[in-house]
Amino acid sequence: MQRETSKKSMESKRNKVYIETYGCQMNFADSEIINAILGKNGYVRTPELADADYVLINTCAIRDNAEQRIRRRLKDLRVEQRRRGWLKIGVLGCMAERLKRQLIEEEDNVSFVVGPDAYRRLPEILHSIENGSKQADTELSTTETYSDIEPVRIDGNGISAYISIMRGCQNYCAYCVVPYTRGRERSRDPESIVREARNLCDEGYKEVTLLGQNVNSYRFGEVGFPQLMAKVAEVSPQLRVRFATSHPKDLSDELLETMAAYPNICHCIHLPVQSGSERILKLMNRRYTPEWYLNRIDAIRRILPDCSITTDVIAGFCTETEEDHQATLEMFRKVRYDYAYMFMFSMRPDTYAAHHLSDDIPEDMKRRRLEEIIALQGEIALENNQKEIGKEYEVLVEGESHRSKQQLFGRNSQNKVIVFDRGDVQPGTYVKVKVTDCTAATLKGVLSSGC
Ligand code: SAH
Ligand code: SF4
Ligand code: F3S
Repeated sequence: MQRETSKKSMESKRNKVYIETYGCQMNFADSEIINAILGKNGYVRTPELADADYVLINTCAIRDNAEQRIRRRLKDLRVEQRRRGWLKIGVLGCMAERLKRQLIEEEDNVSFVVGPDAYRRLPEILHSIENGSKQADTELSTTETYSDIEPVRIDGNGISAYISIMRGCQNYCAYCVVPYTRGRERSRDPESIVREARNLCDEGYKEVTLLGQNVNSYRFGEVGFPQLMAKVAEVSPQLRVRFATSHPKDLSDELLETMAAYPNICHCIHLPVQSGSERILKLMNRRYTPEWYLNRIDAIRRILPDCSITTDVIAGFCTETEEDHQATLEMFRKVRYDYAYMFMFSMRPDTYAAHHLSDDIPEDMKRRRLEEIIALQGEIALENNQKEIGKEYEVLVEGESHRSKQQLFGRNSQNKVIVFDRGDVQPGTYVKVKVTDCTAATLKGVLSSGC
């Protein structure tokens, strides 16, 4: 009897969860939903792996190297498991969804695999594997948005937070695994989004980023994305609003006009181009031409003249010729992005490309093309930043600079990082900073007098 009690109390103590997140902002937002679900069910998040009873790895499957990184991490965790005796590991997120039960077979130290639409079942799953059994739930849903769950923030700065406004994607870009790992597109009800923004504002947050794979196609009844943006912007003029990601095919003038109408909607648009070649864009099933894309850039410049523009690009997609690559470089010269996420194409199983195209660009050619894009973008970013010297911006202070305790950093509306001598200001406040110097990645400035 006594032994049973002590066994029970041992088990009941097994409630500490360590969450590790990889991939995009949406995965980070999901980890905060997971944290909330587990918290409501008697589990406690620990920031220390050494204290954990369960390790949850929220994974990304977007490129092969993202998955390899998770595989290596799982190998490393074996050491911890051996040392500890009782430590259960679960794989969540996009890689879990892509590989399903196969992951349990291939990685024998994994006890559970849970896809992005099955997180409500986590408490039950954690409980059911206590006896050593293994579990997989990778059911996708057409309706799940976790709209009733108030995320519990992880590693936040108390200033800036993500709000997930929709899930899934059905654009089926030929290279992309997301429609297979995240399921059909669905929008979350606007009332719950506004409520979340209001609660964050009441807690002292100063910035929210609305997240979805293609936020422009947000729709819930009468409410489209521009209307949603307006509702969130109206929560408080002190609350900055950002969003990611926009698909060029449906970036509307109406959205740009809404952005222009509310001073607290930030002037920064992430508009992934992927390629500058008409032929490659078609093959990628992006559903816009370079002309259409440049027309959208013109609309941004016309309606929001001080807006920064950032992008994603893929080098070496199937059949990409030197001419196609040159078209991408040309696109970069025309748009003059402020920042770009630049990738080498990675063939993903199950995608249209995997079924119908061949990964025919040799690795070294992909790399050389990528490096050319990176070099060009580096020059452009530096030139863009040099044009900022002398301008004054309202900056939301986020914290101490990584380089020096004497300096703080923050962002302007354009999402550019500005570092400045700390003076008398606190993180979480808005200050005016005049730009005095820059690198390709960062602006340097001084607090304007009167702050
Ligand atoms: N929903 C967003 C992108 C999400 S994935 C959008 O449509 O823009 C983030 C970026 O990863 C993509 O924009 C693309 O540039 C890159 N990416 C996606 N699949 C890839 C692949 N198979 N190989 C290399 N890069 C890829
Ligand atoms: Fe992937 Fe395209 Fe959907 Fe973006 S829009 S997530 S690139 S399929
Ligand atoms: Fe990766 Fe999934 Fe995001 S594949 S990029 S974590 S939606």
